[in-house]
Amino acid sequence: MSVHNDVKKITTHILQQMKEDGEKISMLTGYDFSMARIIDTAGIDVILVGDSASNVMAGHETTLPITLDQMIYHASSVVRAVKRALVVVDLPFGSYQGNSIEALSSAIRIMKESGGHAVKMEGGQEILESINRILTAGIPVMGHLGLTPQSIYKFGTYVVRAKENEEAEQLIADAKALEAEGCFAIVLEKIPAQLASRVAKEIKIPIIGIGAGNGVDGQVLVVHDMLGINNEFNPRFLRKYHNLYQEMLGSFENYIEDVKSGDFPNESEQY
Ligand code: KIV
Repeated sequence: MSVHNDVKKITTHILQQMKEDGEKISMLTGYDFSMARIIDTAGIDVILVGDSASNVMAGHETTLPITLDQMIYHASSVVRAVKRALVVVDLPFGSYQGNSIEALSSAIRIMKESGGHAVKMEGGQEILESINRILTAGIPVMGHLGLTPQSIYKFGTYVVRAKENEEAEQLIADAKALEAEGCFAIVLEKIPAQLASRVAKEIKIPIIGIGAGNGVDGQVLVVHDMLGINNEFNPRFLRKYHNLYQEMLGSFENYIEDVKSGDFPNESEQY
């Protein structure tokens, strides 16, 4: 169902209306101008300039190394491409944890220097002070619970989170705290579908899932993963809409062959 198709510009208020109207929210990551332009033209609701740029753009093993300056570079490229989608930008590791004044100045830099529309932060009650300070500056905040990749060295693995009762109850308490603080939406990553569905029912703000089943208010995927650019990443939750790895490989091979054989350029491809 899509009742907000004709909306010219997606805002946090429209996302709230979508939840209330039962319209699912579509969200994909984006890191550069050309890709963001296609995603926005397709009619996506939210583009997340994710710190997954650290993995898929820069080739790091984790999201920890990406810097605030690099996030601003990616976000400003995306913002220049986007006409309709809400652009949410990840606050990178080390730019907000444990220091709410630094958190505010990181969020202000993102908003001022990239033109993004909101920030996303990983964590629950331990980051409420930072969230509160950012919200008082009028900057919308999206939360992120469950598997939070910035804490990968605490978790030790990328397996499904909150399977045990205690962690599930903690997650529900965190989600309620983020809602009460004023977050406009929450991403739930890699948790049992039943738990995610319960959170989406008990909480009024939109819940966007990744590996969290279908009982939530919207879905997000990393664009490189759903296009099949990274052929080594095949988690159960991922639906691949293309096998771009193979297609691109084939195109590059054909180009190399054409250059080597002298077939490219031909007469109509020269001046
Ligand atoms: O950085 C990212 O891409 C994310 C999504 C996986 C939600 O946080």
